[in-house]
Amino acid sequence: MLSSSVAQYAAQYGRTPHLAVIIAGDDEGSKSYVRAKARASAETGIRNTTIELPATVSQQELCDLVQSLNADDDVDGILVQLPLPEHIDSCAVISSVALEKDVDGFHPLNVAALWQKRPCTPPCTPRGIIRLLDAAGVEIEGKRAVVVGRSNIVGMPMSKMLLDRNATVTTAHSRTKDLGAITSEAEILVVAAGSPHLIKADMVRDGAVVIDVGVNRTPDGHLCGDVDFDAVAAKASVITPVPGGVGPMTICSLMENTVECYLKRMNNVAGK
Ligand code: GUN
Repeated sequence: MLSSSVAQYAAQYGRTPHLAVIIAGDDEGSKSYVRAKARASAETGIRNTTIELPATVSQQELCDLVQSLNADDDVDGILVQLPLPEHIDSCAVISSVALEKDVDGFHPLNVAALWQKRPCTPPCTPRGIIRLLDAAGVEIEGKRAVVVGRSNIVGMPMSKMLLDRNATVTTAHSRTKDLGAITSEAEILVVAAGSPHLIKADMVRDGAVVIDVGVNRTPDGHLCGDVDFDAVAAKASVITPVPGGVGPMTICSLMENTVECYLKRMNNVAGK
C-alpha cells in the first residue's frame, strides 16, 4: 500500500510529501476532480494544498503563483487543473512548473523524455491504464491496440506508452473515416474521445479489452462514458465502467507521481 510507504518515508525524511493543486474558475467537473485529488491525498498521507482562483485570474498571476510554489522547498508536486480559462495560454503555465515538481507529466521536457524513451514522470491517466491492464493480466506485447483520441493528456501519451510495451498501435480521432472498421480490429481499445456512447457493440471485436476514458454528463445529470457499456460488455473480455474505472486509477497514479517526485527531491537534498 502506498499509504504505508508514505508513513515510512515521512518518518525517515521528517516531512510528508506535499501536493499543491491550482484550480481557476468554477467548472463543476474540474472542481469535483480536484476534490477527489484532495480526498486521495488525505487517504495516502500526502499533504494537499488546493488553491482556488477566480476565472478572471491573469496569466501573470497564475505563473507568479506557480513560481512561488516552485521556490517553496515544502512543496513536492504542482498540478494545474485543466482546462484553464480561455484567456490563459495553458502551455505557458504548464511550462512554468518546475520540471522536478511536474506531477502531471505535462511539462514539455517531460513530454520529450516520454517520446524519447528516457526516464520521465508519465501522465497520470495513461499510467493508470497501463497499471490496470497489467493488474487484469492483459498481455500488451504484440497486441493490436487502437486509441481513439489524440489529446496531450490521454490519447497521445497512451499511444506512445502502448507502443513502448510493444503493442501495434493505431491512433484514431474525430476525423478518422470509418471508425468502426478500425476499432473492430482492436484487441485493446482505449477510448478517450469525449463523445458519449460513441463506441457501439458492432464497433468492437469479440473478446476485446475495452478501456473507457470518457467522462460525459447526460442531460439528466448522470455520468456516462464514450462506450455503450451494456451492449459492449456482452462482447468484451475486460471493460471499465464510468464512473469507477479509469478515474480512480488516474488519481492513484497522481499519488504515485507525487511520491516519486518527493523521493527524488529528498534524495537530491540528502546527496547535496
Ligand atoms: N483535466 C483532465 N484531466 C487532467 C489531468 O490529468 N491533469 C490536469 N492537470 N488536468 C486535467
